Amino acid sequence: MAGRPRVFVTRVIPDAGLERIREVAEMAVWPDELPPARDRLMRAVAGCDGLVTLLTDRIDAELLDAAGPQLRVVSNYAVGFDNVDVPECTRRGIPVGNTPGVLTETTADLAWALLMAAARRVVEGADYVRAGRWKTWGPMLLLGPDVHGATLGIVGFGRIGQAMARRAAGFGMPVLYFDQHRLDTAEESALGATFVPFEDLLARSDFVTLHVNLTAETRHLIDAAALRRMKRGAILVNTSRGPVVDGGALAAALREGVIGGAALDVTDPEPIAPDDPLLGLANCLVVPHIASASFAARSKMAEMAAANLIAGLRGEPLPTAVNPEVGRAG
Ligand code: DGY
Repeated sequence: MAGRPRVFVTRVIPDAGLERIREVAEMAVWPDELPPARDRLMRAVAGCDGLVTLLTDRIDAELLDAAGPQLRVVSNYAVGFDNVDVPECTRRGIPVGNTPGVLTETTADLAWALLMAAARRVVEGADYVRAGRWKTWGPMLLLGPDVHGATLGIVGFGRIGQAMARRAAGFGMPVLYFDQHRLDTAEESALGATFVPFEDLLARSDFVTLHVNLTAETRHLIDAAALRRMKRGAILVNTSRGPVVDGGALAAALREGVIGGAALDVTDPEPIAPDDPLLGLANCLVVPHIASASFAARSKMAEMAAANLIAGLRGEPLPTAVNPEVGRAG
């Protein structure tokens, strides 16, 4: 490779990452709040040796073609990588990086905040006060289910799911979990978690929280049938990916009282349309995909994305690769 490598970063990320990249590469950064439109992205990646991408960018064969054969690495600024066609990158020998670990606790914090807020109707309460409707203490005002002592069902028991189990211990909550991979008994008892089949988890949990990757198998994992299996007052929390839940089925279930409430950090599509039925429901709380949005987590994600990018540019193994089978000689 002659001269410094060329890198395109598809949005402004924290300086902790940008400064490291600037030291080793000719870097262009998309400056706008909104992601580059597809045609702009295609033009911007042309001739690049490395890309730092976001979950809002679709990285597929067409985009890789637009970049060109010199592309050596795709570093995704997220732990999730459903926006990247990883098999296609692998086929082309392009390593793909993600940012696991550094956002685990931060994401669990937000999932917990959503769970608490939905149960105890925090946002409804704040809106009620702001609207000037608070006239007196009300014995029947804004009642909700207790969180402490309730049963928490965790679907997807990886890093973030396990972080939820640790939080549940502080609230005296029995924890059920479902995952494709069952932990060994020592790990289960350390986390106070009991493995159950998916259907049992739905039927027995007061709160169901989703922590799976988006794959063909998990798309619409929570559909009308799954919602019908849940307890009538149960609350669904989703901080994974929007399409894991069938939004139409969820809106119907919330409207008809099939379940008690939902709290969503992620929607399908994103952003959710302003006239989406979910936004008209008082028992549905939606926030704009902010689970990892702490200063510290986003900064560490930037460092990690930079480290993956730089390793890929140098032909070294990525510190956190999604397709570690891609070995590049440099
Ligand atoms: C991720 O990392 O996958 C989150 O959804 C955004 O931080």
